[in-house]
Amino acid sequence: MQYNFDKIIDRSSSDAIKVDFMKGIWGRTDLIPLWVADMDFETAPFVTEAIRKRCDNGVFGYTCKSDAYYSAIISWVKDRYGMHVEKDMINFIPGIVPGIGMAMNALTNKGDKVMIQPPVYHPFRIVTENNGREVVYNPLQFIDGHYRMDFDALKRDIKGCSLFILCNPHNPGGTVWSREELETLAEICYDEGVLVFSDEIHADLTFPPLKHTPFAMIGDKAKMNSVTFMSPSKAFNMPGLSASHVIIYNENIRSRFKKFIDACELDMGHVFAFISVAAAYSNGTEWLDQCLAYIQKNIDYIDKFTKEHTPKIKVIRPQASYLIWMDCKELGLSQVELNNFFSDEANLALNNGKIFGKEGIGICDLMLPHL
Ligand SMILES: Cc1ncc(COP(=O)(O)O)c(C=O)c1O
Repeated sequence: MQYNFDKIIDRSSSDAIKVDFMKGIWGRTDLIPLWVADMDFETAPFVTEAIRKRCDNGVFGYTCKSDAYYSAIISWVKDRYGMHVEKDMINFIPGIVPGIGMAMNALTNKGDKVMIQPPVYHPFRIVTENNGREVVYNPLQFIDGHYRMDFDALKRDIKGCSLFILCNPHNPGGTVWSREELETLAEICYDEGVLVFSDEIHADLTFPPLKHTPFAMIGDKAKMNSVTFMSPSKAFNMPGLSASHVIIYNENIRSRFKKFIDACELDMGHVFAFISVAAAYSNGTEWLDQCLAYIQKNIDYIDKFTKEHTPKIKVIRPQASYLIWMDCKELGLSQVELNNFFSDEANLALNNGKIFGKEGIGICDLMLPHL
């Protein structure tokens, strides 16, 4: 079946943050909104169909997680990543960021040190600070067009940390970490007694021939010393359905996490959560292949366009996902001038690179338009 990614959807009357919150930030609503990480495609038809069918039932009572929900996750991670997971290792979370907050509360203490690698998805810093933990920075190095980890600094600065938050693949750089990098990281964190949270929300959007390596698949040290955060939300464009999950192999870590979750019944989910995850993962391979091919063509377009028309803006081609990190330092503008240039002259609502850390100064972040 050929899926249609060309259909233009008017999101203006759908309470979309991307559209409706522009006014509050830019004071206007006429910009092309490319600042929130969701796509403008319809989600996969089999997801909509599962929701529609459930809607037709008309009774929205308390809902449990079916076997179909668990087996869809288990098969997806096995087929795609060779991960062998059992049902009790999977825990529902309403979203990756809420899940990171919950796990941080369950598994670390106030005042603990948490290492992150800027420039990085800014809620890693915000959640850490808002939960009374201290952020320790291990800036990435930009080498030959890609971000790399600085292991000398990491080894030095990780001492005394209790948690490391890994963005795998990396947002905003679009980096797919190599096995060697993940092995070195796993080794250091294990030796220093630092637990790893691996945010793998962009994993399913890894562009072939590259392959995503779940951190937990690196070896026993990584498996027993990590919490993996996953979701069909980015790949199937359904983050508004608030349905994500964690995979925890280590029984002790799992029971501490579950105790926290159970105390507040944080894994109740909602009536559409489990069926939409099951529908995406059970039917999604072909849809996702076509979606990835479409996204890659859009990346080619942006790359070609900037090379031809704005050569001072360097597009860092993502190895995964639809976020484009655009290095604008050669324009010689201050961050304020750069933001104003994009909104006032290019008519685009983009993310200010600085929110990802001071390493993002002079850079803007663009969520790929629907071309
Ligand atoms: C690395 C990363 N983690 C988490 C999220 C958000 O996840 P959620 O909406 O499930 O909290 C995003 C969204 O852009 C992201 O890029």
